[in-house]
Amino acid sequence: MDTECVTVTSFVLEQKKKYPGASGELTILLNALLTAIKACAAAVRKAGIAKLYGLAGSSNTTGDDQKKLDVLANELFINMLKSSYTVYAMASEENENLIEVEVPKQGKYVICFDPLDGSSNIDCLVTIGSIFGIWKKPENAKTPLECILQSGENVRCAGYAVYGSACMLVLATKDGVNGFTLDPSIGEFILTAPNMQMPQLGAKGSQRIYSINEGYARNWDKATTEYVHAKKFPEGKDKPFANRYVGSMVADVHRTLLYGGVFMYPATKEAKDGKIRLLYESIPMSYVVEKAGGASSNGQHSILKIQPEKIHQRSPIFLGYKEEIEKIEKLYEKYP
Ligand code: AHG
Ligand code: MN
Ligand code: MN
Ligand code: MN
Repeated sequence: MDTECVTVTSFVLEQKKKYPGASGELTILLNALLTAIKACAAAVRKAGIAKLYGLAGSSNTTGDDQKKLDVLANELFINMLKSSYTVYAMASEENENLIEVEVPKQGKYVICFDPLDGSSNIDCLVTIGSIFGIWKKPENAKTPLECILQSGENVRCAGYAVYGSACMLVLATKDGVNGFTLDPSIGEFILTAPNMQMPQLGAKGSQRIYSINEGYARNWDKATTEYVHAKKFPEGKDKPFANRYVGSMVADVHRTLLYGGVFMYPATKEAKDGKIRLLYESIPMSYVVEKAGGASSNGQHSILKIQPEKIHQRSPIFLGYKEEIEKIEKLYEKYP
């Protein structure tokens, strides 16, 4: 055991030193979030034994069939965050309406989360995750909903947990992106990937990967169709891009962050805004990728510029290499 290791708590306390007036509430919030994430990681690990596979028998506002682990993870997040006395209101994929915190427990932060992302992959043991975005409650907000519907430009911090061969927390703030791996023997997240930066396309070790559900190709618009074709049948001496698609956004985006590439969930003829939800999937993941030197887009501009109108609003999303996102936006200009 490295006796000099840096935990998330000591890391965040260190960061807090840069903001003398800071109250320490964000540290407490993040610790509550970590407790929920550790509990989710434990539940995911024993799901098969604890009969936590399969459907819960209900569906959520966006029409997803809720898995038992979706419901368990959601309850863990809500309860841990409420009892941290740092949250004013929250929004979850699994709750139709926003969740207000009772007055005595209210704090100054707002959090939107996807408690379990990629839940269609739970029963077959494929990597899943949790996603979160944290904002400050605006002073002049008139309603709790106004506090929730904030754009990515106001994010205070955002990130995700990956429940894969290891459990990793990726945390992005305006100072950068840092990765922490859970050491289950001590129940602490240890700083293992300081200052994460996406590889630059063409740099040593960068990979040419496009990540999209090819099963919807018949319903793609012209821009996405032309872009994907160019990845598979590049002109000149360029090598084709490989295709990797897990079907858990956290897994696909985490790989994009580490290896490089482009993740895409475009609009289709059937789903004019695509599937990925803006507040608790697109904004947090775009914030992480942009802080790590990549780019995000809805086809026109950065995801972080979108002003959310509804809690469960969807948006087309393209994430990854800056140059590739620019090519996609040019194609959407060509085929508006
Ligand atoms: P969730 O499990 O939180 O509902 O999210 C599932 C999302 C996302 O994780 C993934 O990128 C996408 O659904 C996969 O959708 P398709 O199966 O349509 O490709
Ligand atoms: Mn779902
Ligand atoms: Mn999700
Ligand atoms: Mn989910």
